Amino acid sequence: MEIDAFSGNLRRMEVFDQLAEQYQGEHSHNPFQAALIEEIAALLPSGTSVLDLGCGTGVPTAQVLTESDHRVVGVDISEGMLRLAREQVPAAEFVHADFKELADDFGSFEAVTAFFSLLMLSKAEIERTLDKAFGWLKPDGYLALGMVNFDGDSLPFDFMGVPVTVSGYLESDLAAVLKAHGFTVVSIETVAFTPADGPEESQIFALARKPA
Ligand SMILES: C[S@@+](CC[C@H](N)C(=O)[O-])C[C@H]1O[C@@H](n2cnc3c(N)ncnc32)[C@H](O)[C@@H]1O
Repeated sequence: MEIDAFSGNLRRMEVFDQLAEQYQGEHSHNPFQAALIEEIAALLPSGTSVLDLGCGTGVPTAQVLTESDHRVVGVDISEGMLRLAREQVPAAEFVHADFKELADDFGSFEAVTAFFSLLMLSKAEIERTLDKAFGWLKPDGYLALGMVNFDGDSLPFDFMGVPVTVSGYLESDLAAVLKAHGFTVVSIETVAFTPADGPEESQIFALARKPA
């Protein structure tokens, strides 16, 4: 593995440079994620701004939101993911960065989304990123998360054949963490999703809100 150009940490995210198309093929049909994206698209007035953390290939999140007339800024650490994202969703803006390192004044958004990207951080990093997201959100803004349902901190995991580390919470713990970081939990549910080529996964989808 090479050294991460952004933070000096071991750069595990290069896994997505190689797996971008395969990841999209296996995961982009998640009906629970699609439902939450549609919910956000409908909750936000047309033309509002959404920050998508770990945007991947832009499909489905940036694609659906831009097609619903929202302005999307997607951030990802993987050039391979961003190459596909720029091709597939030309209406969105994509930034190559480690979202943990984005400045506190990076922008002001009506919604922040993070589908299966926070889980690649340690729990301490997840919680620091939740604080940053709180700061980037306008009052009344929405935070939408997709996570894997398990309790662990930086546990080794075989991701599509590549070793990474992942962190997760059980549903009640994730709700408590969101509340502890100032959010109101609008909805949270645990679902079973089967990727096209993999075993069933227990996932959590949460919609939270920054109080006015
Ligand atoms: C499992 S994929 C999910 C992609 C997309 N959100 C989706 O739902 O299809 C996780 C993505 O998060 C990105 N990612 C993980 N940690 C990141 C970080 N610290 N900064 C920026 N991107 C990150 C990875 O490169 C990858 O594209």
